[in-house]
Amino acid sequence: MNQLTEQTLVTVTLPESSPERSGDAANRADDDSVFSLRGVNVHYGSFHAVRDITMEIPRRQITALIGPSGCGKSTLLRCFNRMNDLITTAKVSGSVIYNGENLYDSYVDAVEVRRRIGMVFQKPNPFPKSIYDNIAFGPKVNGIKGNMDDLVEQALRDAALWDEVKDKLKQNAYGLSGGQQQRMCIARAIAVQPDVILMDEPCSALDPIASARIEDLMTELKAQYTIVIVTHNMQQAARVSDRTAFFTVEVDEARSSRTGILVEFDTAQRIFTNPSDSRTEAYITGRFG
Ligand SMILES: Nc1ncnc2c1ncn2[C@@H]1O[C@H](COP(=O)(O)OP(=O)(O)OP(=O)(O)O)[C@@H](O)[C@H]1O
Ligand SMILES: [Mg+2]
Repeated sequence: MNQLTEQTLVTVTLPESSPERSGDAANRADDDSVFSLRGVNVHYGSFHAVRDITMEIPRRQITALIGPSGCGKSTLLRCFNRMNDLITTAKVSGSVIYNGENLYDSYVDAVEVRRRIGMVFQKPNPFPKSIYDNIAFGPKVNGIKGNMDDLVEQALRDAALWDEVKDKLKQNAYGLSGGQQQRMCIARAIAVQPDVILMDEPCSALDPIASARIEDLMTELKAQYTIVIVTHNMQQAARVSDRTAFFTVEVDEARSSRTGILVEFDTAQRIFTNPSDSRTEAYITGRFG
């Protein structure tokens, strides 16, 4: 990481859980946004996938992104931690301001960005290692100091998995159930002391009981972390999110284009009880999408 990145990312955006944060910074952090997106567009080659997204993501709240398949939810979520960098045809324009810094500025280190802004995927993706090593891997790679046993335990406790795995930490993570694997992936994301956790349909491979546990966990985690979740489950979005963004696909037959746009972004309560746009209403009442 170059010097400028280190200074700016570290001094401007200390992790939420950092004990070094000053009282002033903590107070200021309570009422502001973690991300400000300004005119964000994403192209895959010549295909315009997402158009002109402007939105604020509030700190220590859960923001849900909903909308029909192909409207660009995953594409947009990947903009929040520069995961689109890993797709060679993807081009992101506009600004993604994270705690005052544009993540796409040339001096910003994408690896450091992904430590601060972790991601949990649809399908649990444990490493083919023990539960312990799955959790310890990130802190080791990132040079996080402290007693590793304590760190692993804390991450598993925070992910509400400790009691179920404390006697089998050296066993392979593939031996866990799907719901346990997903909580382990959340523990792995937490272990590197992130600021934000992005989740792309984290419950879609889980049964209702495991999903409910993840939902409870999200609600607990938002005391410490900012969460952005993509979900197809509208009851889930209504239950867990503070704010909900509804996206749709704008189809232009003449140009044969299909572009994702943000239709409406408001409190979850408003979106699910009294949306202001007829397209949102059609979607949440099941008449579209
Ligand atoms: N790597 C890629 N290369 C080219 N096009 C892509 C790529 N990833 C996504 N797209 C296209 O971009 C558009 C948005 O895709 P995206 O996966 O973001 O949608 P989504 O809202 O997450 O859909 P779903 O609900 O099905 O997961 C789609 O038309 C998709 O085909
Ligand atoms: Mg998706």
